[in-house]
Amino acid sequence: MQQVNLGMIGGGTVGSGVYHAWAQNGDLMAARLGVELAFRKIAVKAFDEPRPYPIPQSLMTTDWQEVVNDPQIQVVIELVGGTGIAKTMILAALAQRKTVVTANKALLSAHGPELFAEAAKSGANLYYEASVCGGIPIIKSLREGFVANQFPAIYGIVNGTCNYILTRMKHEGADFADVLADAQKQGYAETPPDLDIDGKDAQHKIGILASLAHGFWVDHHAIHTEGIRDVSKLDMQFAGQLGYTIKLLGIAKQAASKSAIGNRKSAIQVSVYPTLIPNAHVLASVNGVFNACFVRGDVVGDTLFYGRGAGKDATASAVLSDVVDAALDLKLGGKVRVPPFVAHAKNGRVLPMDEIVSRYYVRLSVVDKPGVLAKISAIFAAAKIGISSVIQPEGHEGESVPLIMMLHDAPNAAMRKALAKISKLPFVKGKPVMFRVESFE
Ligand code: NDP
Ligand code: HSE
Repeated sequence: MQQVNLGMIGGGTVGSGVYHAWAQNGDLMAARLGVELAFRKIAVKAFDEPRPYPIPQSLMTTDWQEVVNDPQIQVVIELVGGTGIAKTMILAALAQRKTVVTANKALLSAHGPELFAEAAKSGANLYYEASVCGGIPIIKSLREGFVANQFPAIYGIVNGTCNYILTRMKHEGADFADVLADAQKQGYAETPPDLDIDGKDAQHKIGILASLAHGFWVDHHAIHTEGIRDVSKLDMQFAGQLGYTIKLLGIAKQAASKSAIGNRKSAIQVSVYPTLIPNAHVLASVNGVFNACFVRGDVVGDTLFYGRGAGKDATASAVLSDVVDAALDLKLGGKVRVPPFVAHAKNGRVLPMDEIVSRYYVRLSVVDKPGVLAKISAIFAAAKIGISSVIQPEGHEGESVPLIMMLHDAPNAAMRKALAKISKLPFVKGKPVMFRVESFE
């Protein structure tokens, strides 16, 4: 049987998971593929670091160049992470015309076009299934399974750490800091975890999905991003009373825009923010570390992908699926059977958030006295923002009470300006809380 030799750089959470899954199912993969997969070297930073699964010392080196420069190694798996040395490692492997497999969404987000250009120049391939949604084969589905579709909308719960935190806050009333520490212990969180909780990791992932779906590389600077630091148990409770669940949602959709500048179809919304999702929608039931991607294709209609979005085993499954694709390419003698990224859209652009139209949930802390609601409503009315419902728990006159309002569709710019005016009213205490509401239409 033909043999493909593998080298891996990184033997931490994901790297050790890959080695373990290969040790478990390598023979099965070989039988299915007709090619034997053999690990030759695995580079780590230090031999004695604790690893979730053991890696034989005989395979390990602390010099990553030994992996890249080994003439026997045909496929290099990069599982170091970050945008520094990992980039050097990938470029060095591509320069040697070796196929690269990576899970590094931060690096792709920051330097995707440069890496794809280097891959094209060298005639090698660059695979990245594990970079989005852990074990869910979403990249392969967009590139191959849905090749006959345009994508009016993709909605993704794409960060396992945030979903784990939000779920435990909602269901157990757990504290943010405690649940985050637990997510770190389980190996879900990035280093540093701010990448997760500030929405950056989700930004990297939705940017990759949006780029594949719309055929132009989405610059991550153009992605409006908000994390989950401002999501409180109080807002989860009020959202629940109104029939909603709060999730950190990555959105890539042909946008409902205030202006019709340019070609509507080539203008897309790409964003990440905590969103109120109707409890009846399937995404509201995606809990814990699980991710889900709701993909609307113009031909296929609505589809849903669900699975573990982080962790050593789920991510290993995605890495090994890329390894198998790479081995198949080598077996067939066509290294770039499916190119890493094809830019096919000429006028693609991301709409500024101010132009996006959404519905809103707003929570204010107001002094309970006559005329308050009228003054706030007047500001929304002047901005042409309609109120669809109001909750104000009973309080004592003169005391601060929460005022929760659900608002109809309005451009984000109008909402931003109205809230700035409202926050200056003397009877409004503290910063208004605002989350967008998604109806998936
Ligand atoms: P870890 O921190 O657990 O592992 C990083 C590995 O890289 C370690 O084995 C470390 O060695 C090694 N390393 C660091 N610097 C060097 C170097 N200079 N030379 C050789 N090896 C080096 O990270 P993860 O496994 O969690 O993440 C890896 C990648 O996968 C990241 O891009 C991440 O974003 C991505 N990813 C992670 C997921 C997860 O659930 N954790 C899910 C999806 C993607 P040592 O062990 O000796 O310290
Ligand atoms: N930190 C990431 C998450 C890992 O929690 O989703 C998987 O990409």
